[in-house]
Amino acid sequence: MVGSMTVRSSPVGGPALPQERRLVTEIPGPLSRDLFARRQAAVARGVSHVLPVFITAAGGGVLVDADGNSLIDFGSGIAVTSVGNSAPRLAERVQHQAGQFTHTCFMVTPYEEYVAVCEKLAEHTPGDYDKRSALFNSGAEAVENVVKIARHATGRQAVVAFDHAYHGRTNLTMALTAKNMPYKDKFGPFAGEIYRVPMAYPLRWPGGPDRCAADALDVITGLIHTQVGEDNVAAVIIEPIQGEGGFIVPPDGFLPGLAEFCREHGILFIADEIQTGFCRTGDWFACDHEGVVPDLVTTAKGIAGGLPLAAVTGRAEVMDSVHVGGLGGTYGGNPVACAAALGAIETMEAENLTARARRIGEIMLPRLRKLAEAHPVIADVRGRGAMIAIELAEPGSLKPDPASTGAAAKACHAAGLVVLTCGTFGNVLRFLPPLVIGEDLLEEGLSILEDAFAGL
Ligand SMILES: Cc1ncc(COP(=O)(O)O)c(C=O)c1O
Repeated sequence: MVGSMTVRSSPVGGPALPQERRLVTEIPGPLSRDLFARRQAAVARGVSHVLPVFITAAGGGVLVDADGNSLIDFGSGIAVTSVGNSAPRLAERVQHQAGQFTHTCFMVTPYEEYVAVCEKLAEHTPGDYDKRSALFNSGAEAVENVVKIARHATGRQAVVAFDHAYHGRTNLTMALTAKNMPYKDKFGPFAGEIYRVPMAYPLRWPGGPDRCAADALDVITGLIHTQVGEDNVAAVIIEPIQGEGGFIVPPDGFLPGLAEFCREHGILFIADEIQTGFCRTGDWFACDHEGVVPDLVTTAKGIAGGLPLAAVTGRAEVMDSVHVGGLGGTYGGNPVACAAALGAIETMEAENLTARARRIGEIMLPRLRKLAEAHPVIADVRGRGAMIAIELAEPGSLKPDPASTGAAAKACHAAGLVVLTCGTFGNVLRFLPPLVIGEDLLEEGLSILEDAFAGL
């Protein structure tokens, strides 16, 4: 034991880990089950798990558990380890920084690493205008702050969010998040001045996917006009591809149309790129796909390979409208997390991970479309780059099928493939492999998925 930690022999993590699926016990194995019993006695029930295997090492496209099983990772810790776990440039910078200093508080005495991350954000986020950034600890905290900034800059209060949106679990971000269970149920009262409008969801748009972009823009702008008043609206916040809500990809033209409406009315357009950002969708940011330029962008997740870091980046005049001392926090932009971000971003640049994400999509989408032809329970295959999903519905209808979704995920887990579910109706299987995953592992993971559907 190290303190209360059991020492086990485990391989060293990082990309040198054998890139193979290897099952040596059932999933979860006996050692994971023992740890789960300890977890039950010490950790709050409300914090849940997709798959209760306890990880001891990870790298490339695999996760190794306490029992020695090596699992294929199609989750990246929810779109975080895009550069792979313990990626060398990241691990080296973290190690070095941890040996130099671990904290001063940027608000007490600043350091270069924070500034360097903000410079990288200015370079890679959409738009070539003059930008400023502020760093925080989590996606939710970034969203909290982007709303503060938008309200301060405009002198307006209303914020418009979407059906199926997910923006976090803090009080304001719960109010922005659409889904009740498990995120909001009995956690209210929620923050005020949040208005919800329909999302352009092609599969489920009443007039069909071809009408979705134009109809949705009509409905949304109409609702804002009649129910809120354009000049009361500080900001519209949208995930350019919705994440937790079901990997909903809006039709072409919708985001540019929405951005244009915002521009016409002095409403700030906020892109929440926390899940879609940092190469995940095949561009540095999902807004790049249609050349949409937001006024403000929130980032987190992939920015620092798993160390807690998040950011708000935006137009200099909007960001700097806030008085000195109005933004901050003890840990925001912690130097070790900033070192990780610099290592992660350097990896993305050096290894051209936008191209890797596009290649992952090129491999996955055709196989998933073939799977959908064979299994009518798959109502939709969608996504971009390495942010891909299938939506399940009862054949011949659009009635969501969360039971088959759960069964398919369970079968994948038992066979050593980590997949996640999502969606307002719990009927979406989503795939977020690390962008550095080998093509053999990717193909093997897809074969496991095909077997899971064959066995439903
Ligand atoms: C689009 C989006 N916004 C905000 C968040 C909240 O981020 P965090 O979990 O780091 O608070 C998430 C997390 O899944 C997200 O996907």
